[in-house]
Amino acid sequence: MEPILIAFGLAVVALLLVVGDLVRRHRPTWHWYLTGYPVTAWRVASTWRRVALLNDLAVSRLPARTLVGHLLVKGDPVRPVAPRISFPRATRMGLSVVVRLHAGQTPATYMQAADALVHAWKVHAVRVTSPERGLVLLTATATDPLLRPGLASAPAELLSALIGALETGGAWVMNLRLVPHWLIAGATRSGKSTLLARVITQLAPQPVALVGIDCKGGMELGLFTERLSALATCRREAVAVLTALVVDMQDRMSACRTAGVRSIWELPDKLRPVPVVVLVDEIAELYLSDGTRQSKAEAEQCSTLLLRLAQLGAALGLHLVVAGQRVGSDLGPGVTALRAQLGGRICHRVNDPGTAEMTLGDLNKDAVAVAQAITAQERGVAVCTGPDGGWARARSHLTPTDEAVATARKHSGMTPELPAIERALVALDGDGK
Ligand SMILES: Nc1ncnc2c1ncn2[C@@H]1O[C@H](COP(=O)(O)OP(=O)(O)O)[C@@H](O)[C@H]1O
Ligand SMILES: [Mg+2]
Repeated sequence: MEPILIAFGLAVVALLLVVGDLVRRHRPTWHWYLTGYPVTAWRVASTWRRVALLNDLAVSRLPARTLVGHLLVKGDPVRPVAPRISFPRATRMGLSVVVRLHAGQTPATYMQAADALVHAWKVHAVRVTSPERGLVLLTATATDPLLRPGLASAPAELLSALIGALETGGAWVMNLRLVPHWLIAGATRSGKSTLLARVITQLAPQPVALVGIDCKGGMELGLFTERLSALATCRREAVAVLTALVVDMQDRMSACRTAGVRSIWELPDKLRPVPVVVLVDEIAELYLSDGTRQSKAEAEQCSTLLLRLAQLGAALGLHLVVAGQRVGSDLGPGVTALRAQLGGRICHRVNDPGTAEMTLGDLNKDAVAVAQAITAQERGVAVCTGPDGGWARARSHLTPTDEAVATARKHSGMTPELPAIERALVALDGDGK
């Protein structure tokens, strides 16, 4: 062959490689449609029977019998039949197939096989959901979109915080006007405090009062003191702060009653009290008692006060964002009642399956399974509920500590004064001495 042709051929190959790499880096979706999807779809179709067999998804049919002349002849020996699957459909960063269940099968069998599918298809994850009876939908994602989530943008709205990115690529927004109270669950170092910090930095520039309750001595929320209208760092202080808030709530209620309206948002601007967001880090510290009479009484008080705020606060501009490792009834009966009032749910990695069930279980069991599958490496990854009753896997944006402190300082001028709470805390100081 002419050397010039060989050189030309090599140049074309090199160019294709360079273009391929550029497309992969800058247009991952195009790259997926052009190369990843066809290969993976072929892999799904060609390995399905074997994967189904190895994972007990196939069922055995009785051997066929055929009539040859006057003789009944047995067909093949027992032959397992794999469930029928649809053609793999491409999605933005993965593909999905619909599987028709054999009679007697449940989606749970497929959930157990999800890991095997991940390996067989060479993808990041396979999600099993059941959109209608008799079918399961297997959704594969080629790479984890939450590994390097971009920060989607969201309109700046009062009481709305852009938390991070959803697995679908959309913005993860916590809007307290739509869902007034939130529960954030997760094991130690799963990302709860990071998420609270994100909420604070997002609400800091808004005309909102932020109140912190951090009974681990204020180690987490103490960073934001300059932007907090009050901070309780032990349970005694928490009782004082919550009591003052409940009194304030009653004032708000009577203001609404006098004006003949049902929420503070219907009051004229001049009369409307400032919305208050109460952030609680590690709820167990409020509920657990060491057996002494005083600690029992404090725990009960906290429980009653939080529940009252949750039940009545939403329309009065009082919001709760509560984080905890455990949210079960082992913390006392009050916590179950409180949980029922916290409509928004966020579940990070959990230590025991029960916590995921308690956080998300009354909403959706597919969501529970996805939350239980979050690994220790996936810090900040969580399953969150949306305002429409849906749910999504998402990752919060990690705000570096110095940036969080700087944001709080920058907006310290926006901190509304809540004199009643301050007085309660000062009185406590006086008592303590
Ligand atoms: N969204 C996130 N992205 C990346 N890393 C995170 C994220 N959230 C948390 N982390 C990491 O995990 C560590 C523990 O998070 P933290 O919020 O303190 O957990 P928790 O309060 O649940 O114990 C943080 O120091 C941070 O390094
Ligand atoms: Mg923490």
